[in-house]
Amino acid sequence: MITREEALKLLEKYNQDRSDMIHYLESEAIMGALAKRLGEDEAYWKMLGLLHDVDWGITKEDSHQHLTKAPEILRSAGFDEKFINTVLSHGYGWDCAGLKEKCRTEKVEYALACAETVTGLVHAYALMRKSLDGMEVSGLKKKFKDKKFAAGVHREIILECEKLGLNLDEFLVIAIRAVQEISKEVGF
Ligand SMILES: [Fe+2]
Repeated sequence: MITREEALKLLEKYNQDRSDMIHYLESEAIMGALAKRLGEDEAYWKMLGLLHDVDWGITKEDSHQHLTKAPEILRSAGFDEKFINTVLSHGYGWDCAGLKEKCRTEKVEYALACAETVTGLVHAYALMRKSLDGMEVSGLKKKFKDKKFAAGVHREIILECEKLGLNLDEFLVIAIRAVQEISKEVGF
């Protein structure tokens, strides 16, 4: 596997928006925290979080193209098909890269999907309260239930945390703490 520094360079090559980079860093942090909690490979899960949207910067103008470029980019960087397929699994159900009819089955796939999705909720709530400090699960859960808040965040994907044996509260705590640990890097 490539180093984190090399992974960041790869991201920068295809992604120019700071807000996208922040999403990748938050996904990395939550994946690391989940791996730690579940006794999985932290470095590997973090790398999945970091690189899951590697082609977003060059495909977002036509979101149907999202994840069509990622396999080649990741293969060229030395990642194997297992890593690449796990990256693709976060697009299952979406109308892109022929992934619409596919369903997640593996623990690491559920983890990547719920981790990368919950970043949207945590970040939007942090922006609203202008800080990550003191964020608690009770407040975040209210925002989870308020479908008008961060309406683009798919709650049903966040609930895939249950497939990891974590209830929503447990997962939200993990997500909050993980993002708080990198608060400076993500603009707070
Ligand atoms: Fe993402």
